[in-house]
Amino acid sequence: MLNRTIDQLLKTEPTLHEVKVRGWVRSFRSNRFIALSDGSTIKTLQCVVDFENIDDEILKKVTIGAAIEVVGMLVESQGQGQTVEVQVSSLKVLGVAHPDDVKLTVLSPKRHTLETLREQAHLRIRTNTFGAVMRTRSKLAFAINEYFHKNGFYYMHSPIITGSDAEGAGEMFNVTTLDPKNIPLDENGNVNHKEDFFGKETNLTVSGQLEAESYAMALGKVYTFGPTFRAENSNTSRHLAEFWMIEPEVAFNDLDANMDLAEDFIKYVIKFALDNCADDLEFLENRLLEEEKKKAQDQRSEMKLREKLHFILDNNFKRVSYTEAIDILKNSKPNKKKKFKYIIEEWGADLQSEHERFLVEKHFKSPVILFDYPATIKAFYMRLNDDGKTVRAMDVLFPGIGEIVGGSQREERYDVLLEKMKAMNIDQKELYWYLDLRKFGTAVHSGFGLGFERLVQFTTGMGNIRDVIPYPRTPGNADF
Ligand code: 4AD
Ligand code: MG
Repeated sequence: MLNRTIDQLLKTEPTLHEVKVRGWVRSFRSNRFIALSDGSTIKTLQCVVDFENIDDEILKKVTIGAAIEVVGMLVESQGQGQTVEVQVSSLKVLGVAHPDDVKLTVLSPKRHTLETLREQAHLRIRTNTFGAVMRTRSKLAFAINEYFHKNGFYYMHSPIITGSDAEGAGEMFNVTTLDPKNIPLDENGNVNHKEDFFGKETNLTVSGQLEAESYAMALGKVYTFGPTFRAENSNTSRHLAEFWMIEPEVAFNDLDANMDLAEDFIKYVIKFALDNCADDLEFLENRLLEEEKKKAQDQRSEMKLREKLHFILDNNFKRVSYTEAIDILKNSKPNKKKKFKYIIEEWGADLQSEHERFLVEKHFKSPVILFDYPATIKAFYMRLNDDGKTVRAMDVLFPGIGEIVGGSQREERYDVLLEKMKAMNIDQKELYWYLDLRKFGTAVHSGFGLGFERLVQFTTGMGNIRDVIPYPRTPGNADF
C-alpha cells in the first residue's frame, strides 16, 4: 500500500483502492465524518466512518487534534468541495488530544487573534492560517534556490560567527565563552578577548555579503541564503532580531545589471508562489477579506492579496534617484488631511517607511527602485559616484512593506575603499582580506540582500513579520 500525503490523494482519481492515511483530526461531524489533515495541504480528507466497523470506545477518542490512522477505500465523494473520500474500514487512535486542555482551543475552529496564537508558537502551526503561511514560505525558499541554479549561480554558505561587522552599524550580538562572573581584563582594564574561545571578539553575522564578494570574485555568480542577526531594538511589524537573507553577488555586474537581476528574481519567485501555492493563497486572501470588513472604509486595502502579487508581476519597477525622490517628497502630502509624521527637510535625510510607501502606493503606483543615495547614510562598501557625495546604492520598495531589498555596486577601487574605511572608522585589520580582493584582479561587482521574511510577508499578506517565521526572535522574546 502506497503511503501518500493527503495532497497527493486529493489529486488522484478515485480508483477504489485501499489507502492508509495518518494525520490529525481537524473536525468531525455526527460521529461519522472526520476531516483529516496531515499538513500537506490546506484541504482536509473526508473520512467516512461506518459505525458497524468501529468500536464506540475508539470513536470517543477521535477529538480535535488527536493523531489517528485510518485504512479504507478511496472512493468518489458525494459531498461538495472534494472529489475523493475514504470509507474507513479500520481506525486507530495514535495519540489522544485532551479536549478540555485550554491550549487545545488554539486548534478549535473558533478564530483566535494572531497575538494569542504567537504565545503558542508550537501549536499555531496546526491552524489553517499558519499552515498556509509556512507552506508558502517553504515553496518560496525552493523557488529562490531554483531561480539561482537555473541562472548559473553557485550557493555559497557564509559563516554565522564572524569577527567583522559587515554593515558597520554596530548592531551585533556578541558570541562569547567568557564567564560573566569572572571576565578577564587586560592591562588597560578592558575585556581581554584573547582569553575568549576564538582568541578575539566575535559576533553573529549581520550579512554574508563580504564573504560572498570574495566568492563572486572567484566563482562569478554566487548567492547566500541563511540566517542573519541584528541587535537593533526595533519593535516594528517589519523587523526581527533573527531573519533569513538572500544575498546574490555577481562579478562584472554594475548597478543597472543589479537592478535587472533584482526585478527578474523577485518576479520569478512571486510567479512561482501564484502558480504553486494556489490553495493556500486563496485561503489567505479570504482571511484578509474578512479582516478588511472589520476596518473603517478609508483604511481598507484597495487590492486583494493576489491582485497585489500581480501588481508586482505586471509593472516595470520604476527606477528613481534618491535626489528625484526627495524633490517629490518635499512637495507632497500623503493625503489632504495628513502630513508625513517625519518631514524631510533637506537632501541627505534617510527615508522612513511612510515615504517609501507613499512613493510606491500613491505617487508612482508601481514597485520602485531608489538609487544613488547620499554616501553618509549608506554602508562603507558602496561605490562612490563621481559627484563625491552619492553612492551606487539601490533599495527596492514594495507596497505595504517599504524596503524589501537593499543592495549596491561595490567599491572595487582599493584607494577609495581604504579612504572610506578610515573615514567611517571601519576596522582595517579585521577586514584585511576584504581589502585584498581589491589588490588581486579587482573588478566591478554588485549584489543585494532580500529579507526573506519581508518577501513571505508580502506574498501571504500577513501584517506582522512575527507571523511568517516559525519562532520569531524580537526584543524580549526568545522563549522557544
Ligand atoms: O539593507 P540591508 O541591511 O543590506 C545588507 O545587509 C546588505 N549587506 C545586503 C547586500 O547587499 N548583500 O538588509 C537587506 C534586507 C533589507 O532590505 C530587508 O528586506 C531585510 O534585509 N532586513 C530585515 N528583515 C527583517 N528584520 C530586520 N531587522 C531586517 N534588516 C534588514
Ligand atoms: Mg537597507
